[in-house]
Amino acid sequence: MDIRTEMAVKFRELFGADADGFYFAPGRVNLIGEHTDYNGGHVFPCALTIGTYAAVKKRDDRVIRFASMNMGDAVKECSLDDEALCLDGRALDAASGKGAGDWTNYPKGVIWAFAEKGYRVGTGFDFLCYGNIPAGSGLSSSASLEVLTGLVLRDLFGFADVRQQDLAIYGQRAENAYVGMNCGIMDQFASAMGKEAHAIFLDTNTLDFTYAPLELADAKIVITNSKVKHQLVSSEYNTRRKECETALAELNAAESGGDIPSLGALTPEAFDARASVLSNEVLVRRAKHAVYENARTIQAVQALKAGDIAAFGALMNASHDSLQYDYEVSCPEIDFLVAEGRKIPGVIGTRITGGGFGGCTVSIVKGDAVDTFRETLAKLYKDKYGKEAEFYVVDAGEGAHKL
Ligand code: GLA
Repeated sequence: MDIRTEMAVKFRELFGADADGFYFAPGRVNLIGEHTDYNGGHVFPCALTIGTYAAVKKRDDRVIRFASMNMGDAVKECSLDDEALCLDGRALDAASGKGAGDWTNYPKGVIWAFAEKGYRVGTGFDFLCYGNIPAGSGLSSSASLEVLTGLVLRDLFGFADVRQQDLAIYGQRAENAYVGMNCGIMDQFASAMGKEAHAIFLDTNTLDFTYAPLELADAKIVITNSKVKHQLVSSEYNTRRKECETALAELNAAESGGDIPSLGALTPEAFDARASVLSNEVLVRRAKHAVYENARTIQAVQALKAGDIAAFGALMNASHDSLQYDYEVSCPEIDFLVAEGRKIPGVIGTRITGGGFGGCTVSIVKGDAVDTFRETLAKLYKDKYGKEAEFYVVDAGEGAHKL
């Protein structure tokens, strides 16, 4: 049975009626440009062909029922009129979000973010989802659920002037304010705007973007899932973000009339000339990563366009080193996969991808070396950490759409 048929059966079983719409939003992998999206820099992700699916049906009352095929048969119900949920878009009472502990906070957050912008849903609906992104892999299952919810709301309630980009913007708003994770725009943007066989070169400062064809000659993009997820992710992520903000504030305070809008606005040369004013060495390393990673991302896209895959791979390697040593968002398991991966002939570049502290690496590997890459790394990793790494050869897929 294909996924859609399975969902149709489950929907009927749980909600006692037929679904009347099916939707999909993909996960993403970022090729380069890590921890630049909240620093006004560039990113270069592509959408995957795995992601999150929804089957939905509008109701006549004010009830929303949520179920997930990844969470057993539990149906979670809420009312649009429950004031504590703020689904009418009212200001959230506490500065901190409602947390990621309950998965329905993601779709609820999107309902809230739409309402905040004036797109209030008139009735409830039944919502069944199913995701095939491996849990905890850092391939943006949450962003895909947010973008998916936005797509469903736009379609069910006829919010025709909500652009595809807005699905990303409202998804990020939901995650920042409602869930409480201070992420940038990259994941939601890739999920909403992905294009088959292309990556997205996005300026996170202006949201201007272009699609770059993923023409890698005979090479493939391979994701390696370390299957580790360290608990630090959201706390350390928010700390990095604050460190970057502090560094920017110090750079501006040191100049009369200092008005650097973001670290992404600085070239490496401009940063180096100013770095000595920063109050400590940690801030220097954090800001250096943000500035240099942005420059690497711009160069990497130029290299790809020029067909220079070796240069692209070298920039990916430099990105990893910077994330490992300067930004300190990697972990021993991932560093091991990267270090061992680089020794395998045919590996053009390899680095951690996503928020960090576990999750996946992304590598560019010559087509005829993919099997060796997979077998060698799987064995070494198992011997060292006792874990089964998983490998996926990437096909860049389409952004969120109705099925
Ligand atoms: C997470 C966030 C993104 C981005 C990456 C790091 O995936 O959700 O916004 O900051 O980490 O590049």
